[in-house]
Amino acid sequence: MKIAICPGSFDPITKGHLDIIARATTLFDKVIVLVAVNPSKRCSFTAEERLDMIRRSTTQMERVEVDTFSGLLADYVDQVGACAIVKGLRAVSDFEYEFQLVMANRKLHNKAETIFLTTASEYMFLSSSFVKELAEFGGNIADFVPAEIVGDIMERLGKS
Ligand code: COA
Repeated sequence: MKIAICPGSFDPITKGHLDIIARATTLFDKVIVLVAVNPSKRCSFTAEERLDMIRRSTTQMERVEVDTFSGLLADYVDQVGACAIVKGLRAVSDFEYEFQLVMANRKLHNKAETIFLTTASEYMFLSSSFVKELAEFGGNIADFVPAEIVGDIMERLGKS
């Protein structure tokens, strides 16, 4: 069975992430969406909350599982026997950071390949931070995140 991991902070998951996950399911037998730790980020939602939001956003997707891990991605890849890490590339600016991660992961675990899918053009500018900023200033986030989690985000970040 070919297993791929879609790792990220997902704070919160966006429609851009969902697009990448959906496309990954056409390439692999199982796709694990992994809430991992990026030590340079302070998240607005706990890992459990992010996991729950991803779960509710992917219920219609076959072959998708959701998990969380607080260690090295390379170790998780090993643990589940994944053959690939799938990430979205939005712009050239993503490349340098992603390239560093690929090199590090390859050094730590040289069996899995990292595959980049180019983000759908309507989500090129999208990021979790953008969604959070929009919510904080009372903007409409419905175009950018799955309908199932709009309420969670507005409740946490929107001005009441
Ligand atoms: N559509 C919309 N937004 C997207 C996107 C897409 N297709 N792809 C990425 N983004 C956004 C993310 O939401 C994120 O936004 P933010 O910065 O506002 O939060 C931003 O682009 C960067 O995403 P990404 O590069 O995936 O970073 P991340 O913080 O979401 O995930 C980890 C990074 C968690 C995968 C990485 O830190 C990791 O592997 N951690 C585990 C520990 C480890 O192994 N570290 C490496 C050791 S060398």
